[in-house]
Amino acid sequence: MKNYQQIDKQYLWHPFTQMQDWLKNEQLVIAEGKGSYLYDTKRNKYLDGVSSLWVTVHGHRKKELNQAIKKQLDKLAHSTLLGLANVPSIELAKELVKITPKDLNKVFYSDNGSTAVEIALKIAFQYWQQIRSPSPSGRGARGEGFKKKTKFLTLINAYHGDTVGSVSVGGIDLFHKIYRPLLFSSFKVGFDLKEVEKVMKKHHHKIAAMIVEPLIQGAAGMLTQPKGFLKGVRKLCTKYNILLICDEVATGFGRTGKMFACEHEKVSPDILCLAKGITGGYLPLAATLTTNKIYQAFLGKHEDKKTFFHGHTYTGNPLGCAAALANLEIFRKEKTIQKLQAKIKFLTQQLKQFNNLTIVGDIRQCGFMVGIELFKNKTTKEPFPYKDRVGHQVILEARKRGVVLRPLGDVIVLMPPLSISHKELEKLLRITYESIAAVSI
Ligand SMILES: Cc1ncc(COP(=O)(O)O)c(C=O)c1O
Repeated sequence: MKNYQQIDKQYLWHPFTQMQDWLKNEQLVIAEGKGSYLYDTKRNKYLDGVSSLWVTVHGHRKKELNQAIKKQLDKLAHSTLLGLANVPSIELAKELVKITPKDLNKVFYSDNGSTAVEIALKIAFQYWQQIRSPSPSGRGARGEGFKKKTKFLTLINAYHGDTVGSVSVGGIDLFHKIYRPLLFSSFKVGFDLKEVEKVMKKHHHKIAAMIVEPLIQGAAGMLTQPKGFLKGVRKLCTKYNILLICDEVATGFGRTGKMFACEHEKVSPDILCLAKGITGGYLPLAATLTTNKIYQAFLGKHEDKKTFFHGHTYTGNPLGCAAALANLEIFRKEKTIQKLQAKIKFLTQQLKQFNNLTIVGDIRQCGFMVGIELFKNKTTKEPFPYKDRVGHQVILEARKRGVVLRPLGDVIVLMPPLSISHKELEKLLRITYESIAAVSI
């Protein structure tokens, strides 16, 4: 058998990875997947505790998804959406509009979460440039329309992806600080509606949109928002004539216990970003959905140049769209969301025992998204030194016991496939517990 590890080390540069460490250490090379499990080249079996970076929905090598892709492959692998349409992208757009919050009517495709956000930001920006008359609320300077609405309001600790636009609306210093000279500035607020209103009141004439990860900030370490926060943000955005962008790249497709996190607070955003679970975790596809009102602002004569001049080569890829259609079909057929409810309850109940561990200082959960935060001192919340990589030590322990995890610093993330069985969930929790305990000693 080829020495894939060695070849990997010779040729690859891994994402979010200090390669100096990577080169020194033994690495897993995954060769196969089945259900909730991944298998390495040596046929060792690992429970996938993070859904291969939060994407796997119905498990690996799901028969219906495989078949849908193979069927599409026999018809067409790719044809561009620039100047042409294709069948799966049409069918999927119709389905997405059907299942997403009520005001969303139009679908713009791309390939990943960052581009879905990038598109949302550009659409929001351009929308105000092309709206001539003030809104019925009268907010915005008369005469020049809303041209000054060029800024974004974002949440502290936000993560919306790694392209320069999405980093600009992000707020995780560890990832984003170095790029600051490249970024555009934005207004930042915490999970506090009073603070949000204060900024909106003062700066609404400059703010194009507010962008949020609804209910929970994933990459920041699974930070949950107070109940009613999202609904409050929606109300304030409407009051101050600011577009609301909901980034459901992580929370979408069942993760929070409903198809979309927005549903928990009956919120319909002006723009919605989807990726990750859209294809059930199979192919890189993303979608940015907008209201008809926004779409209308881009209509005009060719020479008016109101076109949204944006598009990626693989936009609306038929294989990705076919996988996404099959994904939605499985949700319906297998009643995925319905079946998930008992597993969420079980998870909530089982997580309580983690409080017994001496280094667990906080446990946060939103549906099937969990963050277990480790501290040197759980009472004072004193963190471990960054160089100790305690979160990483835990995942190495978990790996020894047959579970693949990926921490966010010292936050242990649990994000199993929605299809995970009770027995597998039990195993995931037991091994995570043992792994944290092993590092606690
Ligand atoms: C909320 C959110 N938005 C955007 C992204 C970026 O997605 P991608 O990695 O597909 O570019 C992520 C990735 O984790 C995310 O969690």
